[in-house]
Amino acid sequence: MITVTGATGQLGRLVIDALLKRVPSGDITAAVRSPEKAADIAAKGVRIVRLDYNALETLGPALAGTDRLLIISGNEFGQRVEQYERLIAAAKAAGVGFIAYTSIINSDGNPMFLGADHKVAEKLIAATGLPHAFLRNSWYNENYLTAFQSGAAHGAIIGAAGEGRISAASRADYAEAAAAVLAEGRTGVFELGGSTAFTMDELAGFIGDVAGKPVSYVNMAPEDYAAQLKGFGVPEGMAGALADSDKYAAEGWLFTESRDLETLIGRKSTPIAETIKEVLGA
Ligand SMILES: NC(=O)c1ccc[n+]([C@@H]2O[C@H](COP(=O)([O-])OP(=O)(O)OC[C@H]3O[C@@H](n4cnc5c(N)ncnc54)[C@H](OP(=O)(O)O)[C@@H]3O)[C@@H](O)[C@H]2O)c1
Repeated sequence: MITVTGATGQLGRLVIDALLKRVPSGDITAAVRSPEKAADIAAKGVRIVRLDYNALETLGPALAGTDRLLIISGNEFGQRVEQYERLIAAAKAAGVGFIAYTSIINSDGNPMFLGADHKVAEKLIAATGLPHAFLRNSWYNENYLTAFQSGAAHGAIIGAAGEGRISAASRADYAEAAAAVLAEGRTGVFELGGSTAFTMDELAGFIGDVAGKPVSYVNMAPEDYAAQLKGFGVPEGMAGALADSDKYAAEGWLFTESRDLETLIGRKSTPIAETIKEVLGA
């Protein structure tokens, strides 16, 4: 039995679909916070169980009978470390035989604020002594959806990533890689990044090509970028985290030369230009 947490999330749904291409539906469990959101997944023959990282009593029953577990990192910042402590202890107690975890690219040294909880999760999983896989994902192409739209509308995109090269790939690419690792029970550290990387200047150019107009990139100081995002209505904590990520992206922390992603999925990853075309309907 392969169990996937966060299965009603954007990545989780794609992982379930990718798994369905590799293993029988009866071998897959979607562990979700809100089972009522999972009717479409159940309709595919996948077992649904309730698993809320914050509700200790849900963890053991949800994980019983699981051979391989994928923990999709949560999004409740400030609570994630405690959540991982509980979840990983429950997995060990339930007799789970293998744990995969969606981490961040270059996790060993990555100084990003968003990377801190991933480092803790990796340590907790390693300390169980169970066979494990760290799926160290770089950025999703889809993180730039707002940039695609505002670039096409206003002729400019903003950020604080300077000349840093970003090895982004589509969510579906990372989901396929996760499914490959789970289906085969492959252990190890996988540095997962796109087959081609881009700078923000280049991204502006790609958006311009699709939109049929010049699009420029305006690089800002991280604190100015955070203030600008806040002005657009992004909550303060998230604005700070995004600006912090860009600051370190400028130093290359979202870049990798690793070919682990294309090796796992057996093809090149989805170029950002393709995602832009899909989003802008070109
Ligand atoms: N690499 C990147 O560029 C990037 C970008 C954004 C996020 N991430 C990380 O990757 C993860 C997956 O990305 P995504 O796009 O799929 O994010 P997402 O759509 O926000 O999915 C997050 C999932 O976590 C679940 N979750 C949150 N709190 C939970 C709790 N207390 N108990 C159980 N489940 C809980 C959510 O459940 P519900 O479905 O019930 O809401 C959802 O299914 C994110 O959570 C984040 O850690 C990475």
